[in-house]
Amino acid sequence: MELTVKRVPALQGQITAPGDKSLTHRAYMLAAVAEGTSVVHNPLVSLDCEHTLKCLQQCGLGVERLGSEELRLTPARKWNEPDGPLDCGNSGTSIRLLSGLVASRPITAVLDGDDSLQKRPMKRIAEPLRLMGAEVDGEMPPLVIRGKEHLKAIDYETPIPSAQVKSCVLLAGLRSDGTTTVRESAMSRDHTERMLGALGAQVHSLSTDNGHVASIVGGASLKSFTFTVPGDISSAAFFIVGACLVPASQLQIFNVGINPTRAGIFEVLEQAGATYTLENLRDQLNEPVADVEIRTPDLLMPFAIKGDLVPRLIDEIPILSVLATQCDGTSTIRNAEELRFKESDRLELIALNLSAMGAEVEVLADGLQINGPVELKGARIRTSGDHRIAMAFAIAGLIAKGTTVIEDAEMIATSYPNFERDLWSICVV
Ligand code: S3P
Repeated sequence: MELTVKRVPALQGQITAPGDKSLTHRAYMLAAVAEGTSVVHNPLVSLDCEHTLKCLQQCGLGVERLGSEELRLTPARKWNEPDGPLDCGNSGTSIRLLSGLVASRPITAVLDGDDSLQKRPMKRIAEPLRLMGAEVDGEMPPLVIRGKEHLKAIDYETPIPSAQVKSCVLLAGLRSDGTTTVRESAMSRDHTERMLGALGAQVHSLSTDNGHVASIVGGASLKSFTFTVPGDISSAAFFIVGACLVPASQLQIFNVGINPTRAGIFEVLEQAGATYTLENLRDQLNEPVADVEIRTPDLLMPFAIKGDLVPRLIDEIPILSVLATQCDGTSTIRNAEELRFKESDRLELIALNLSAMGAEVEVLADGLQINGPVELKGARIRTSGDHRIAMAFAIAGLIAKGTTVIEDAEMIATSYPNFERDLWSICVV
C-alpha cells in the first residue's frame, strides 16, 4: 500500500496519542507472570503488540477483550510449552523480552519473526541467557530456547545500552536465585524496572559515572494490576515535529508518556528553539504523563544529538532528521550506530530518502550530518517496511514541493494503525 502526501498550509487541532508500544508489550508480559487477573486499559492495538499477546496466549495466558480499549488477562498457573513457533512478527521488543520469560521456565520454544526480524541481532540476549543457564540456539531468529526452572543470577555488562536487552535479563532474573544486575554505558528506557517495582519486585536503579546499573532480586511474586497505558511519545513525536515544520501550526496532543528515559525529544526541541508546553502532569502506575501543546517557531536552530541522549530518543531519530533539514545550520547525530540494527538500517534509509527529497545529508559510521534549511521536494520514499521511516517521511511530505509517495505504508500498523486518520484530522486544507 502507498500513502500519498502533499504540502499543507498548517496543522491545527487535537490528537490523543495512541497507547505506548513499549508499555503495552510489558503490561501483557507482566500480566502473564502476575498472581491473578490483571486489566489493561488503552493498550496499543497494533500488529507488534498483537504478536506479543498471541505468543503469550500460546503459553497459556487467558485473554478476554472487553471492547477495543480494555483487556482482562489471566496468567496460566504453569506456562504451556507452545504448540508451534512463537511468531513475533516485526517486533524486536516481543522476541527479546519474551526470550527472558521463556528462558526462565522449564519449556522449549522456537521464537521467530518476519524477514526484517530474522536479520536482527539476538546474540545480545542469547549471551546473557546462556550465562544464566538457559540453552539458546541461534544468533538471529529463529531462536530455539530451552528454558530452566532455576536460572543463575548474573552481573552482566551489556555491549550496547538497550532496554530490550536489559529487560530480557531482568525478566529472566525475576526467577533466578539471587540478585541479577545489568550494567549499561548509558541509561535506556526504564519501563520494565518501574513496572516490576510497582508490582512488588525488589528492583534497584542507580546512575553512575560509567552509566547505569539496574538490578532485581529473584523470587518475588508479582501482584496483579490494573494499568491504563499512557500515550506513546514515539508516535506523538511525528506530530510534535510536524507542528514545528509546517508553518502556522498549533497542536494539542493529549496523554503523552513523558518518562525521562523516553523524553529526549524535548531536549532537542529546546536546542532547536521550538515552543512547547507540558500541561496537566499526572502519573499512571509510576509512569509520568502530560498533554503537549506545540506551535511553529519563527526560526529553527541546528541541534546535536550524542552520548547518553541517544537512548532517550532512539526511535525519534528518523523524524528528528527531517526536522534537521529545516534548521538554520548543521545538525549532527552521533553515537547512534544502533540505528543500523532497527527494523531497517535507519541511518542509510534516512539519508537515501532525505537525499531523494533534495536535502543535504552525509551518513557517518555512527550517525548523520544534515545541513539546513533546504526546501524539500516530493519523492518516492523507500521504507524497507520500516514503520518509523514511513511516518517520518509522511511528515516530510507535508512541507515538500510536489507529491511524496510512501511505499509499503501498511507497515505503519505495526506501531500506529490510526496514523493516517490522525494525520488527516489535523491537516488544514
Ligand atoms: C524498546 C527499546 C528500544 C526501542 C524499541 C522499543 C523497548 O530498543 O528502539 O522500539 O520496548 O524496550 P533498544 O532498547 O534495543 O534500543
